[in-house]
Amino acid sequence: MDQSPPSSNDSSYHRPVMATEVVELFREAPAGLLVDATFGGGGHTRALRHAFPDRTVLALDRDPDAAAQVPADPRLHFVAANFADLDQVLRGHAETSHERGEDPVGGRGVAGVLFDLGVSSHQLDVDERGFSYHRAGPLDMRMGPDATRTAGDLVNESTVGELIRIFRRFGEERYARRIAEAIVRSRPHGDTLELAGVIADAVPAPARRQRHPARRVFQAIRIAVNGELDALERGLEAAIVATRPGGRIVVIAYHSLEDRIVKRRFAAGSAGCECPPDFPVCTCDKVAELRRLTRKPVRPSAAEIEDNPRARSALLRAVEIVDFGPEAA
Ligand SMILES: C[S@@+](CC[C@H](N)C(=O)[O-])C[C@H]1O[C@@H](n2cnc3c(N)ncnc32)[C@H](O)[C@@H]1O
Repeated sequence: MDQSPPSSNDSSYHRPVMATEVVELFREAPAGLLVDATFGGGGHTRALRHAFPDRTVLALDRDPDAAAQVPADPRLHFVAANFADLDQVLRGHAETSHERGEDPVGGRGVAGVLFDLGVSSHQLDVDERGFSYHRAGPLDMRMGPDATRTAGDLVNESTVGELIRIFRRFGEERYARRIAEAIVRSRPHGDTLELAGVIADAVPAPARRQRHPARRVFQAIRIAVNGELDALERGLEAAIVATRPGGRIVVIAYHSLEDRIVKRRFAAGSAGCECPPDFPVCTCDKVAELRRLTRKPVRPSAAEIEDNPRARSALLRAVEIVDFGPEAA
């Protein structure tokens, strides 16, 4: 999620990105449960419930603040959980639905999963959460209570080498060493704006004139604090395993590290036989489990970006689970 200021008409918890595109991608999904793995302010869930009133949505978010946004709706179930644990959440949902005497998914499994990654506008805009390099707040950045270390713990306790690795790996930051050394020299840090200032002072003057000099380092700290990339890999895998043939998985990423994980997993799953072309018969037995619905990532329209500048970096990819037919079941 871009940290540009919200547009003037943006007063809500969060505005859903590419909601029309998301709804259209689920329109042809088979019968069954829709999972919104990143409920946030519930904008996508609302769009899905409105477009498909007969479908049940199971929504997850690791941030307890999101729970307060859940409307009373018998066809919407919310679980405060990390989507890395999607398999357990789905098992728990099936059990509780069974106990309530409900058929959770019409006996037909998961029809679609949506991941709208990153942070919500609410998380960026509440100073106490410490996500923003534009506003003073405590160095926290935990998306939920399942993250044990705060951003403050990370910058105050890590060695220079550890910080360099985090800034390079999760921020692709060119000036990782200079920034890490400056941070360690001026410890302890407790405030977002103070840390952003240390970072800005550590980078060469020309780099300060481009985008905000703290953007990549804040992204890196946030990813490390929340284990975001591991969670994405686990969540994606669980979604692929749980979704029924013909079902769809839609992911909206906001930076290249997330998008790369999605792109690679979707490409690997949609690759068929890997035998050399001169082999007379296939010996690898590899068949595609996924069909890509988007070759290139879909981006928001210019009108949507103008209306909601925070949508600017969004990259949407989608796949369908391949149906091998009854004889392969
Ligand atoms: C971009 S917002 C989603 C906004 C939502 N689609 C809407 O329309 O309001 C991302 C949300 O995902 C949540 N989130 C991020 N990583 C998560 C994870 N691993 N498990 C569960 N929720 C996560 C964040 O707490 C945040 O609320």
